Amino acid sequence: MEKPRLIENEHDLTDVVLAAFQATSDARVKQITEAFVRHAHAFLREVRLTEEEFDYGLRFISAIGQANTDSHNESVLAADVLGMSTLVSLMNNPQNLGQTAAALLGPFWRLNAPECRHGDSIARSDTPGEIILVKGRVYGSDGQPLAAAAVDVWQASPVGLYENQDPEQDEMNLRGMFHTDSDGRFHFLTVKPAGYPVPTHGPVGTLLAAQNRHPYRPAHIHFMVSAPDHKTLITQLFVDEQDKLETDVVFGVSRPLVAQLKPSESGVGPAQTLEFEFTLNQGERHFPEPPIK
Ligand code: BEZ
Ligand code: FE
Repeated sequence: MEKPRLIENEHDLTDVVLAAFQATSDARVKQITEAFVRHAHAFLREVRLTEEEFDYGLRFISAIGQANTDSHNESVLAADVLGMSTLVSLMNNPQNLGQTAAALLGPFWRLNAPECRHGDSIARSDTPGEIILVKGRVYGSDGQPLAAAAVDVWQASPVGLYENQDPEQDEMNLRGMFHTDSDGRFHFLTVKPAGYPVPTHGPVGTLLAAQNRHPYRPAHIHFMVSAPDHKTLITQLFVDEQDKLETDVVFGVSRPLVAQLKPSESGVGPAQTLEFEFTLNQGERHFPEPPIK
């Protein structure tokens, strides 16, 4: 163990701080906190942060926390607009075995979406927009269809708001939980999603404005697909290639997740169908902490 020493100048501070972490018993906590300090100090040196900027930055972080409520998660939003959520998602969900690409969870997933039967509509209140059919099939890591997989879906209303943001929508509007049949299939009705702006009333909005960035996400539907002995797949399907896919404010779009709405095969029901196959990875079934209640 290194002997504690006095700080001589700016340059040896990082080593002194790292030495103070030496006794950390958990190896992973040690690795993460050490790397964090090394990178944070390097960042402060690179930009030669002023005292005023440091003070502003701390107040900014504090404002992010203060903007969090039971129905709004500014912390998740901040990580999302900086590309951090997508990086963590892509690093932890490789597609080397043909698994479906993952995408960030976002701040709007809620626990306990209403249990639905195949063919149900997740539009529970009067929701504007064209009705579409969504058909999916879920495969396991062995390439075989997965029966009884849970498929949790959620999307914003075409007015640009999730139900928890909008008193005009019924509780749990555009949210539903489906289970695949013996062939791994599921299907449901919904409204064609539209692009929408992420919330900009908090510090994240201030940041986006300072960066001259638009706040929009392209039209998408969220999916969380899970089954025993498989890693839970959190992803999104994007339905319109014309819709600012390259400039998603939260960097959520990857090419394999761009799906096409096609004319429905049968003459009855919605005119357009969105069809997609989901392949899960082997692993532990695990669910994230819901960002909101
Ligand atoms: C969403 O798609 O629900 C979302 C993702 C990141 C930030 C805001 C919204
Ligand atoms: Fe969304």
